[in-house]
Amino acid sequence: MAEGHRRLVAVSNRVGPLNDEGKAGGLAVGLSDALKRRGGLWFGWSGNTSSKGTFSEATTEVEGNVAMATIDMSEEELQGFYYGYANRSLWPLLHYRLDLAEFDRQSDRIYRSVNQRFAARLAPMLDDSDLVWMHDYHFFYMGSELRQCGFKGKIGFFLHIPFCSPEIFTALPSSHDIVRAMLAYDVIGFQTDTDRRNFANFCVRELNGQKLPGHRLQVGDRIIVADTFPIGIDAPGYARFAVSPEAGEHEEMVREIAGDRLQIIGVDRMDYSKGLVERFRGFERLLEEYPENRGTVQFLQVAPLSRSELGAYVELRRELEELAGHINGRFATLDWTPLQIMTRGFTRRALAGIYRAARACLVTPLRDGMNLVAKEYIAAQDSDDPGVLILSRFAGAKAELPDALIVNPYSTDDVARAIQRALTMPLDERRRRWETMRDAVFHGTAAHWCDSFLDRLERSGRDEDGPAGEALAEAHPS
Ligand code: ADP
Ligand code: G6P
Repeated sequence: MAEGHRRLVAVSNRVGPLNDEGKAGGLAVGLSDALKRRGGLWFGWSGNTSSKGTFSEATTEVEGNVAMATIDMSEEELQGFYYGYANRSLWPLLHYRLDLAEFDRQSDRIYRSVNQRFAARLAPMLDDSDLVWMHDYHFFYMGSELRQCGFKGKIGFFLHIPFCSPEIFTALPSSHDIVRAMLAYDVIGFQTDTDRRNFANFCVRELNGQKLPGHRLQVGDRIIVADTFPIGIDAPGYARFAVSPEAGEHEEMVREIAGDRLQIIGVDRMDYSKGLVERFRGFERLLEEYPENRGTVQFLQVAPLSRSELGAYVELRRELEELAGHINGRFATLDWTPLQIMTRGFTRRALAGIYRAARACLVTPLRDGMNLVAKEYIAAQDSDDPGVLILSRFAGAKAELPDALIVNPYSTDDVARAIQRALTMPLDERRRRWETMRDAVFHGTAAHWCDSFLDRLERSGRDEDGPAGEALAEAHPS
C-alpha cells in the first residue's frame, strides 16, 4: 500500500478501546477495527473532566501499533461542546429531528472553542507528512483550526451520521460557518450517496458552489472531494468471534432460555434515532394480528444507556420501560414474557453469540448513518441455519443490504408483517438472502472503508483536484 509510509492520525471525540470490551457506538468499533490493522495515532477526549480541561496534560497509551493520546475537558467544555452543541443541536438536526434540536449561542461558542483547543493540542504532535483523518459531528471546525495552526499536510473528514437535507440543515444558525469551515478538508466522506448529495446541494444552493466531475465540489476557488465511503466491520474477525467459546456460552444460554420459542433480537444504544418505541409497537401489533405467535416468540432488546444526562434520552427510557410493561402486562402468561429489555453492555464475542441464537434481528432506526449492528448480525450467523435481518429503509446499511426485509419503521403494520414473514420464512429463502448479504458484509469491511478513504485522501490535490493544504481565509469562520 503506497500510503503505508505515511503515519495515520485519527481524531475522534471517543477514543478506543482496541480490545473486545463492550462498547456501544459504531464509530469506535469501525475505527478501532481499521486502526489496529494499519497502526498510527488516535487522538481525542479522555472521557474525563478536570479543572484544566483541554489544557490538561495529554495521556498516552500504546497498544500494539496504535498510540492513543487523549486530553480532558472541563465541566463547562463538556456541557457546552458535548451535551450542548454536539448532542442537543447537531445530533437531532442531522437525524432530521428539528423538533428536538435546540440552538443557543453559548454552546455554539464553546463548541468552536473546543475544536480550536483540540487543534492546538494536536498540532505539535504532527508532521506535515502525516495523513490526518477527523471523525464525526464533534469536529466540523477542527480541520480549519488545524490549518490556522500551520498544518500543511492532508486532512480528511468522515461523517458517521447522516447529513440531512439542506432545507433542514439551514435551520442551524451556524450552518454556513460550519460548511465553509469544512472546506478546509481535502476529502469529506459520507456513509451514503444521499448524505453526499445533501451536502453537495447545500454547497450549491447556499454557498454558490458548483459540482465538478469525480465527486468534487468547488466553492469560491477552493476545490474539495466529497464522496461516499460506507463503513464496515472486520467481518472475518467478527465471524470468528461468533464461534468463540464465549460466544458459544451466550448462544447456548439464549437458546436454553428460549426453549422451543423463536428468539428475536434488537441491539441499539438507547437513542431516539433508533426507532425503539415504534419497534415495540410493531412487536405488539404482531401479537395482536398474528396471535399464533403468543407464547412461541420472545423479543430481547439490548439497549445500553447513552447520553443519559439529556432530557430527550431520559424521556425515551421512561417511555420504553412503560411500553414494555404495557406489552408484557397485556400478553404475558405465567410461563412466558414476550419482551425483555436489558441496558447492560456485552463483550463483542458475547454479543456475537446472542446474535447467532436469534431467528430475526430488528434494525429499525428512524434515521441512521450506517448501522453496524445489521452487519454484525449477518457476520455472526450460522450458514446452515441463518436468521433474518429486518432493516429500516432509513438506515445507511440498506444501500448494501437490499436483501434484508426492508421496512418503513414508522409503519407499525409494516414492521409486524415483516416480523411475521421472518418467523415463517423457509430455510432456503433465509439462506439465499443471507448469502448475498454475507458477501456484501465481507466485501465492504472496515479495512476496505479505511483503505479507500485514505487512498482518495492520498490522491487529493493531485491530478484534477484543487490544491491540497490550501485553507482559504473564507473557509475559516470569523
Ligand atoms: P451507533 O453508532 O449509532 O451506536 P451502530 O449500530 O453503528 O450504532 O453501532 C453500535 C455498536 O455498538 C455496534 O458495534 C454494537 O455491537 C455495539 N453495541 C451496542 N450495544 C451494545 C452492548 N450492549 N454491548 C456491547 N456493544 C454494544
Ligand atoms: C455514534 C456516533 C459516535 C458516538 C457514538 C456513541 O456512533 O456516530 O460519534 O461516539 O454514537 O455516542 P457517545 O455520545 O456516547 O459518544
